[in-house]
Amino acid sequence: MRLVDKNSIAVAFSKAVQTYDQQASLQREIADSLIQQVLQNVPMGKILDAGCGTGYVAQKLKKNDQYYITALDLSEMMLYKAESNHSAHNYVQGDIEALPFKDGSFDCVVSNLAMQWCHSLEMAMIEQLRVLKLGGQLYLSTLIQPSLWELKKAWQTVDNEQHVMDFISGEILENHLAQLELNPKVDHIVCHCYAKELLFNDIFSLLKSLQNIGATALPQRKKGLMGKDQLQKLADAYAIYQDESGLPLTYYVAELRVTKL
Ligand SMILES: C[S@@+](CC[C@H](N)C(=O)[O-])C[C@H]1O[C@@H](n2cnc3c(N)ncnc32)[C@H](O)[C@@H]1O
Repeated sequence: MRLVDKNSIAVAFSKAVQTYDQQASLQREIADSLIQQVLQNVPMGKILDAGCGTGYVAQKLKKNDQYYITALDLSEMMLYKAESNHSAHNYVQGDIEALPFKDGSFDCVVSNLAMQWCHSLEMAMIEQLRVLKLGGQLYLSTLIQPSLWELKKAWQTVDNEQHVMDFISGEILENHLAQLELNPKVDHIVCHCYAKELLFNDIFSLLKSLQNIGATALPQRKKGLMGKDQLQKLADAYAIYQDESGLPLTYYVAELRVTKL
């Protein structure tokens, strides 16, 4: 269980609503992988896109007229954007850890890169399994440790504050999955982990990229702008990771597929 401030998360994502789509190349790539799996394995039915953001996943799935898509997000502005993109058939503002749906409401739940913002990944999975019908499938992706490790290390040379969110470790994720496997109603857990490196020209564009996708809400972060000296120190510390292709920032992703029996 991690402490997260859901109000700050919703505000950070609402602020990023205009820039998210241009900056979300990694999110798109991971979303495409989940979408492919849903299209191949779920022939029809009610699908929930949990943490839909601007509605990319919902919109792609909606093209299949055998699906009825519900888009849910914590952020009012993200949901509004998803709706103005005509991404889904139904739009609901809500929290993945307390889904406003009855048990067994959906044939499939898909959630791309939203669960790392939850207090408890286990709670998020239990909730998403609860709203699935028997035989329904859950397709999830989340970020895990040591995502953004270069930025975390560089910040540690500048001050003692938390600037990068804590991600769940692969080991804890496996423990959660093992506990779920003990539940006789869950089967076929497939977990696939991989790393993706993004490259930036400089520290400004790297930090801006996180802001543009709304990934800036942290539990104990002091508010206020970063000073010039602080930014220079960060740039100097980050320079040790630079090579001829640019400044790297690495994301570690876990993709999960779970079937409810
Ligand atoms: C990185 S974006 C991903 C958006 C979308 N799934 C995509 O693939 O582009 C994460 C989204 O999850 C939402 N989110 C974060 N925590 C949430 C929660 N507890 N319940 C519902 N949505 C949440 C955010 O508001 C944001 O829109």
